[in-house]
Amino acid sequence: MTNNSSLSVIPVIAIDGPSASGKGTVAQLVAEKLNFHYLDSGALYRIVAFAAYKNNIQWNAADKLGELAKSLKIQFNQNEIYLDGDRITEAVRSEEMSRGASEVAIHQPVRSALLDLQHSFRQAPGLVGDGRDMGSVIFKDAMLKIFLTASVQIRAERRYKQLMNKGLSANYEKILADLQSRDERDSQRSAAPLIQTADALLLETSECSIEQAVQFVLNAYQKHQ
Ligand code: DC
Repeated sequence: MTNNSSLSVIPVIAIDGPSASGKGTVAQLVAEKLNFHYLDSGALYRIVAFAAYKNNIQWNAADKLGELAKSLKIQFNQNEIYLDGDRITEAVRSEEMSRGASEVAIHQPVRSALLDLQHSFRQAPGLVGDGRDMGSVIFKDAMLKIFLTASVQIRAERRYKQLMNKGLSANYEKILADLQSRDERDSQRSAAPLIQTADALLLETSECSIEQAVQFVLNAYQKHQ
């Protein structure tokens, strides 16, 4: 068992930001470059929303959701997600589960139930965590905190193009409205709201490529070392 003081010497890069900002892609690429572990914390809230749906638990039933979140057998393997041994990688990425994740995430019992699991990702040689509260709550002592964002219109455009490229139907206005309501829910909630902490560097990606964003984080990491 690793104690807290030895855990805190394992470096964490916390990348927080709103939905569809591209932080997942950037975080994964940074983790690959540094050979660090990667935590997609949003996936955990998506899994809770998915499991609740399967078990007929409403997304507003805070205590039941907390119990459910404690009992889940979640496994990440490469880029695949498993729940109780079933592969649910695509199922949790649907627009419905994006909304569900944002709804279940407002409840403190859910957030508390996922704490230990998130901390367990902090393993040598280091971790890149992406989400909403990586730097503000889960890894407050992260050596580098990035707040990665882009305008909501740009994020909606990117999501629209992604869906079109996959041959899926997409409606720009609906995507924009969904993102706006998720932004509002994620940043207005009382439990671990999305905020840029004073010690986080702002990375505005409306006008920059993924490669440039990755380079920004790597440069900042080198400076902070
Ligand atoms: O990053 P994502 O879009 O997969 O996250 C889905 C939802 O999960 C998001 O709308 C809010 C919630 N979430 C959270 O509350 N805290 C995190 N650290 C990550 C995600």
